[in-house]
Amino acid sequence: MLGSTSLEPAVADSKEIARRVAREIATLVEERRRVGRAAVLGLATGSTPLDVYAELVSLHRRGALSFSNVVSFNLDEFLGLARSHQRTFRRFMQDALFDHVDIPPENVHLPDVELHDSQIDAHCADYERAIRRVGGIDLQLLGLGLNGHIGFNEPGSAGDSRTRAVVLHAATRERAIRWFGDLREVPRRAITMGIGTILEARRVRLIVTGEHKRDVLTRLLEGGVTPDLPASFLHAHGDARLFADTAAVAQS
Ligand code: GLP
Repeated sequence: MLGSTSLEPAVADSKEIARRVAREIATLVEERRRVGRAAVLGLATGSTPLDVYAELVSLHRRGALSFSNVVSFNLDEFLGLARSHQRTFRRFMQDALFDHVDIPPENVHLPDVELHDSQIDAHCADYERAIRRVGGIDLQLLGLGLNGHIGFNEPGSAGDSRTRAVVLHAATRERAIRWFGDLREVPRRAITMGIGTILEARRVRLIVTGEHKRDVLTRLLEGGVTPDLPASFLHAHGDARLFADTAAVAQS
């Protein structure tokens, strides 16, 4: 049963979900512009948000949306790749969104992919400070990992966790083979915003699409709040909305 949760899904075709979420983002950016403020967006990688980014690019090309007042913070980034590597999340975001819109490059934030161990803690603390300095995240876009992770907060992550280095689970690395071609090429670690960081975003929009997400979506909708399913912490958020396509919603 879907039950009564703030995460009761709005079910729609995946293209329609992308249009709705992109429209909400565009409205937020425009509202902030009118009052001379920046819109702070939390962005995600993975296949799920690609349609949203395509919609945003299309709005921009039609002259209906400028990113000149957007500040972005991505959820996560691999650790241990060269900055020039083609599979960094920064490269992914450039290709999917940033290279096609007018976001000022200095407004874009992702954790650094190439850090010495001795630099990691300070880098993560800086990331949190940078988010606070701009007044926090207005809207955080999220996808859902097959094991219930959000960002790279793997099962077992604490509800009050902050931006930090994490060791990726085997299943997460397996799934990343599609980007890297070979498991040996997939990094073992990443930096991710914490669950606590994500929960501080004023709005959270979680998108779950595809039949392969059915089981994890069912667990999310049936279960309580548990570190075994990191996305379940979103049940406690006051303005988290879930958009799922018909393929992801199990027939009852
Ligand atoms: C990666 C990302 C997550 C993303 C997840 C799901 O692990 N770190 O932020 O939500 O993959 O990916 P996909 O949208 O491709 O299913």
